[in-house]
Amino acid sequence: MNDSFTNTGDKMVLTGATYDIGMIGLGVMGRNLALNMAEKGFSVAGYDTDPAKVKALGREAAGKPAVGVASVEALAAALRQPRAVIMLVPAGPPVDAVIDGLLPYLAPGDVLLDGGNSHFRQTEGRAARLEGHAILYMGVGISGGEAGARKGPSIMPGGPQAAYERVRPILEAVAAKVEGKPCVAWLGPSSAGDYVKMVHNGIEYAVMQAIAEVYDLMKRGLGLEDGRIGQVFDGWNRGTLPAYLIEITGRVLAKTDAATGRPLVDVIADEAAQKGTGMWTAQEAMELRAPVPAIDAAVSMRDLSDLRAQRIEAARVLAAAGPALAIGGAKNEAAFVGALEAALRASMVIIYAQGMAQLRAASDVYGYGLKLETVARIWRGGCIIRSWLLEPIRAAFSARPDLPNMLLDPVFAKMIAADQAALRSVVVAAAENGIPAPAIASCLAYLDAYRSARLPANLIQAQRDYFGAHTYRRLDREGDFHTEWE
Ligand code: 6PG
Repeated sequence: MNDSFTNTGDKMVLTGATYDIGMIGLGVMGRNLALNMAEKGFSVAGYDTDPAKVKALGREAAGKPAVGVASVEALAAALRQPRAVIMLVPAGPPVDAVIDGLLPYLAPGDVLLDGGNSHFRQTEGRAARLEGHAILYMGVGISGGEAGARKGPSIMPGGPQAAYERVRPILEAVAAKVEGKPCVAWLGPSSAGDYVKMVHNGIEYAVMQAIAEVYDLMKRGLGLEDGRIGQVFDGWNRGTLPAYLIEITGRVLAKTDAATGRPLVDVIADEAAQKGTGMWTAQEAMELRAPVPAIDAAVSMRDLSDLRAQRIEAARVLAAAGPALAIGGAKNEAAFVGALEAALRASMVIIYAQGMAQLRAASDVYGYGLKLETVARIWRGGCIIRSWLLEPIRAAFSARPDLPNMLLDPVFAKMIAADQAALRSVVVAAAENGIPAPAIASCLAYLDAYRSARLPANLIQAQRDYFGAHTYRRLDREGDFHTEWE
């Protein structure tokens, strides 16, 4: 920490190599994280290619130890050595552009952190490149959006442990706190942090999709108004489903559009965008052969939502392919809303279970040595998927660190047993009413497949052997067998 620092408002004054950390990229996340660091007493030198953003940091930081600088060269010159620099720029080519521009001014032993949503393979490539220059490179997942960056995000760092120890005081100071503990921990070597953040986002996609399905079932199925649906989500958030994504859903549905006086969600186009992290999670899960069907469904549904023109045509052409809507009616509204609550609760348990199982598989294959208890602990606060489930997840992996799947933990087995009947009734109602609920339905199918001691894969093996002589194994004898089926 730099005690002798005095901020001069929007005048950018540098007094030698004294700053604790450099921030490159002063967009929403970078600026807010820089201000958070400065508020905790760490001096920050910030740079952006956009001079207006550099100036803005100087202005907003008035009274705090943060300044904007005009070039990466000036940034490097401002920092205490060995340096620590964090990049918060869009994933992909911008990260490489920053590295190329900064590298000439870095020295062996400096630490460079990437705080964006970079693909873990790119982080590995960059780390290898920088190792050749003796620069310690870390991929750091940061979750929590604008408010999180400013007030306390969940931080998921991976890379050389020695590098983490150097920046640890800063990261611990700025991270969200739960029970006094910072929501940050060194997760593992190499790309472990980026991988964990990627799966965090995959879970985020699936939970958002499940919430959207429940909203649709209340809106199109029961015919409830947005405001009323918002109240239901608000009640669940205060009741049995405390979760950031459910909390904001309640707030979103309560918002009125100033221009039309209608609920704002009703005038928002039904085409979900994406920056790729959910798709990467699904792709990488397939690569590992770790099934995450709820995340797959969430990505597919964003893609399907984007086919709006086709959907409008199909609504006409395929009108006769749907049933008459039938859930509604005041009589069963309360019962159905109760079933939705239980179905969402069960789905969320199953979604987190899929994500944690993917992390277990990735850790085994990529040698991350991930402690899933730690992952759950640092997700309890600050991040987008924070929810009531994270503490029991943490406890489950603390009790049994090698737990292959959360659903095998007695606490979750009991939760699912209590909610499964409602989950089934919701999937049935969705199908009967022609309302798509693929995330929730896939959670039920995953549950039923996972708890099937015998699946029909025997038939698939027989078919493979029939048409391709691919052989099969028997339950009663060792070895590979082939049958002449004709
Ligand atoms: C977070 C968010 C954040 C971002 C996502 C959104 O944890 O703070 O996940 O990283 O909001 O990238 O992703 P899409 O644009 O793909 O929905």
